[in-house]
Amino acid sequence: MTGKPISRKDDVINGLLTAARVVPVLTIERVEDGVPLARALVAGGVRTLEITLRTDAAIAAARAIISEVPDAIVGIGTVLTPDDLAQVKSLGGRFAVSPGATPELLDAAARSDLPFLPGIATASDLMQAQARGFSTLKFFPAEQSGGIAMLRALAGPFPKIRLCPTGGIGAANAATWLSEPNVLAVGGSWLCPAAEIRSGNWDAITARCREAMKSLPQKQS
Ligand code: 3PG
Repeated sequence: MTGKPISRKDDVINGLLTAARVVPVLTIERVEDGVPLARALVAGGVRTLEITLRTDAAIAAARAIISEVPDAIVGIGTVLTPDDLAQVKSLGGRFAVSPGATPELLDAAARSDLPFLPGIATASDLMQAQARGFSTLKFFPAEQSGGIAMLRALAGPFPKIRLCPTGGIGAANAATWLSEPNVLAVGGSWLCPAAEIRSGNWDAITARCREAMKSLPQKQS
């Protein structure tokens, strides 16, 4: 059995994650932080970003990054409803990410041509996503949902599924997660701490990204 994607959209998200290896999860409080933050990440070799729809500034910041930082591959996260998904599409996000996988959201995503990374934490979540053609999934919250032991347990009955674990991942354990054969990339907020965003310490963010990209193992195929 292989981990070959089973749909075109899945193929896109699989390719993006495989190339990225690390996807920073960004919570942007001030619109004006978006562009310098994205530039700092790209300068550090981290191009694929998830901007969460958790703040009032998120949409305007995403719009600015999409138009002013062409080297960034901008995905939009914390997509909870079909309306959120439509918003990602109209914003020009390259992909959408959800912490979960409700039937309503999965159905809307299956109808859309937007690449979508649904969140799963159990075998049943995974089966709901897989039934609609999604085989590349976010394992969230990864550490809190059983960590690597859970990931390995899921690999048994679901050998075709590929995952992007997110939640509780940082510099100390990212490489371990990435060494798992069913992990394409890891996500998390650790590359850009809120305090550094607040103080505009872009150089520290770039340096941390460079270090991470140097030290992480080569991606699995
Ligand atoms: C997410 O929203 O995907 C997580 O909150 C990121 O988790 P972390 O802050 O533990 O990296």
